[in-house]
Amino acid sequence: MNVVHISAECYPVAKVGGLADVVGALPKYQNNATVSSQVIMPFYNNKFTKTNTFNTIYKSELSLGDTSFPFKILSLKEPLLGFDLFFVDVPELLFKEYVYSNDDTERFLAFQIAVLDWMLTWDKHPDYIHCHDHHTGLTPFMLQESFKYESFRKIPTILTIHNAQYQGWFSHKKVNLIPAFNFENVGLLDWGNNINPLAAAIKCAWKVTTVSPSYMEELKQSANGLEDLLNHESAKCSGILNGIDWNVWNPETDNYLISNYNTKTVVSGKKENKKHLCDTFNLDPNKPLFAFIGRLVGEKGSDLFPETFKETLEKGDASILLLGSGHDEVEIQLEALKKDYKGTYNAFIGYDEALSHIIYAGADFLLMPSRVEPCGLNQMYALRYGTIPIVRSIGGLKDTVIDISEKNGFGICHKDVTISDITNAINRGVSLYNNNNTYKKLSEQIMEINHSWNASAKEYVKLYKSIKLKI
Ligand code: ADP
Ligand code: GLC
Repeated sequence: MNVVHISAECYPVAKVGGLADVVGALPKYQNNATVSSQVIMPFYNNKFTKTNTFNTIYKSELSLGDTSFPFKILSLKEPLLGFDLFFVDVPELLFKEYVYSNDDTERFLAFQIAVLDWMLTWDKHPDYIHCHDHHTGLTPFMLQESFKYESFRKIPTILTIHNAQYQGWFSHKKVNLIPAFNFENVGLLDWGNNINPLAAAIKCAWKVTTVSPSYMEELKQSANGLEDLLNHESAKCSGILNGIDWNVWNPETDNYLISNYNTKTVVSGKKENKKHLCDTFNLDPNKPLFAFIGRLVGEKGSDLFPETFKETLEKGDASILLLGSGHDEVEIQLEALKKDYKGTYNAFIGYDEALSHIIYAGADFLLMPSRVEPCGLNQMYALRYGTIPIVRSIGGLKDTVIDISEKNGFGICHKDVTISDITNAINRGVSLYNNNNTYKKLSEQIMEINHSWNASAKEYVKLYKSIKLKI
């Protein structure tokens, strides 16, 4: 079985969020004696592409409307990655320092056309084409509708929705850029009087998955305008919970950590990492440390952070450390808080992979008060590192964290995204932390919860196999 994942992000090459972590891990776990799983992604101008060497395996030109763009397909055989990785190099469009920008319509359309043009000539015929998010959402449409790709029409396409908030809309004025478009099939592309790549993929893909079962159910109620479509297509939709890369995220071997640890040494190991964080960020190591790592956007509840943090910090019984970037306004407010709460609050506004690992290890609690959370990987990383997650029960957070008040519970859950709900949850965390033995036991216990990709990778293969081929 030959599976090709098409994605805008893949760890460790290019990462903006959890999409990269998923695409950088799932293929590794799918690969075995009978499954060959690989990834194709854009060739960006970043640290990874500057520091690795690639083989050019194909050269051609693609057409985007009336304009031609030369492109190359590059390959990287890096045994450490655990899967083969291919790149689409369209120098004029894709070779940038960033992953996303405001000309993404053209960039990702060119990417998808190049992928399909190359695959027509590839000696390894794909059995399943697995698309991730709206950036690759026009691929199922092109495969279904284009004569050029007619020989691929019987290849099942799978769309995984990592986040339905982002749909890649663009105006009908640009519809001519899509190779297979005609006036009869424009209905497959349109949703709400715009060209909507995510909607097109939901219509044309053979199977649609979301990254947790609860998120799929939530989307049928509220999906930024796509709820009716998802209800209509529900027969081909299902939710498969993400896993995590058990080797990359392993406190016993993680090279980023100040001190490595396992379940037996979790107390001393976490203490060392916490000490480093407290020294670096001028925080009191005797107080419980609550951390947040992520994008500062409405979905993550970040607009409430400044007020919520103030409320907690005024009480003086906790410290807060934040790592993230996003909305300017929130960033400014979070920076401004620093001067009022020296010694108990600090924030690193930016992106830092190494620091994120140390925070998962050194914090006592990880905050995730998300309004929307399709899956969320952070809570699973926190569990692996013995850090108690404090989450709003929604989407994947609901599917992975059980409140301590319930049987076999191990985390702290809250119902709403309000200042009072988040503050109460933090207060519960402070009480738990002060009950030293219970905290220690929980910390050991959560490290044993296995969220490795093993089980979910099999679920995907089961899904591929369940697809009835069209004769
Ligand atoms: P999302 O994809 O919605 O941002 P996820 O929980 O699925 O959320 O994944 C986020 C990933 O990005 C995690 O690996 C997290 O550690 C990482 N991350 C987010 N923000 C930062 C940051 N500022 N610095 C380092 N890593 C970050
Ligand atoms: C998206 C979602 C996040 C999920 C990630 C990986 O970015 O916001 O919840 O964990 O994709 O699937």
